[in-house]
Amino acid sequence: MKREEISSGEVLQALDTACQQVERNLPDFTYRCQNHSSVNNFYAPCENNQWTCGFWPGEICLAYEHTQNEVFIHAAQIQVESFLHRIENHVEVDHHDMGFLYSPSCVSVYKLTGNLHARQAALLAADQLISRFQPIGNFIQAWGKMGARENYRYIIDCLLNLPLLYWASEETKNDVYRDIAMKHIQTCLENSFRGDGSTFHTFFLDPENGNPVRGETCQGYRADSSWARGQAWGIYGLALSYRYTRKKECIDLFRKATGYYLSHLPLDLIPYWDLIFTSGDEERDSSSGSIVACGLLEMSKYLEKEEAETYISLARQMLKSLYDSYRVVDLGMSNGLVLHGTYSKKSPYNTCTPEGVDECVSWGDYFFMEALTRLKGAWNLYW
Ligand code: GLY
Repeated sequence: MKREEISSGEVLQALDTACQQVERNLPDFTYRCQNHSSVNNFYAPCENNQWTCGFWPGEICLAYEHTQNEVFIHAAQIQVESFLHRIENHVEVDHHDMGFLYSPSCVSVYKLTGNLHARQAALLAADQLISRFQPIGNFIQAWGKMGARENYRYIIDCLLNLPLLYWASEETKNDVYRDIAMKHIQTCLENSFRGDGSTFHTFFLDPENGNPVRGETCQGYRADSSWARGQAWGIYGLALSYRYTRKKECIDLFRKATGYYLSHLPLDLIPYWDLIFTSGDEERDSSSGSIVACGLLEMSKYLEKEEAETYISLARQMLKSLYDSYRVVDLGMSNGLVLHGTYSKKSPYNTCTPEGVDECVSWGDYFFMEALTRLKGAWNLYW
């Protein structure tokens, strides 16, 4: 059943409202960062020490692009100094999330202004990311002590960290970053996607010989289910991987992963937090909807007209649902942009710490703005 699509007027209206909210938030979050998720729909400030801190400056940059109001780019450049300090002083960077942190906060500002501190910070982050590469198994280790058997794994989310490496190779004319990204993507294509297009959240390899061991989950419901956001990182990650590698396999898997996702959505096209749930009162993860919309819009650039139009239409339908039923309209009831995200929900089978269930989540706000920006017109990616 085809649902209503977001109109061009609604795209502009949603961006206007989002930018108003971002501007209202500047006094709280110019010299501090925004916590990963809200509590009762309000974000608190935090230090620059979470994996999520790059999304808020990404929103500021998108607000600048929409409005051309210098107040936004001024705030983004203040944030750049904090990100440079973080990577130079190695503050909470012993993990793989360098792309999530530095693409929307620093690659963005460098592309928009030529700010050299932003470039330097992002290149240092790329160096940190490749320091986690494991040649036995050919992957970037997600978390924990390097080489430890209990941490010898990557996670599907890492697909969004790889664009930082393609950018670093382009900037430095040094292929080392790109080569590592290409090796990681190959390992991910071979192991993270099941035959039906569903995905493993995390995947272990054998530290002795690099052989695949098993898929598991941290934030999904169960090892053999599909965590909605993992599926979304997979879909958008495949589109970005195709953009940078032109591997045909990325398109084939994108079709399968998207097909699986679409066939597990409730009527309003916004997933429950794990795709094992297709009805009932489990919480949604609205952020997955925005991430997938970005992935559909990105991949549509590389497909034949008819298929591209189908994906663009789906993205517009998802955004219409977010626009009608999930976004913050009354700016006093939340300091976020999109309600009903889920960061980590505990299940009897997963290993996560419960946080941010049915709340605004900072990447949900960012990707909602990114998807709207993509619909508004040509956009020079931060990824
Ligand atoms: N990358 C972690 C998450 O999506 O929650």
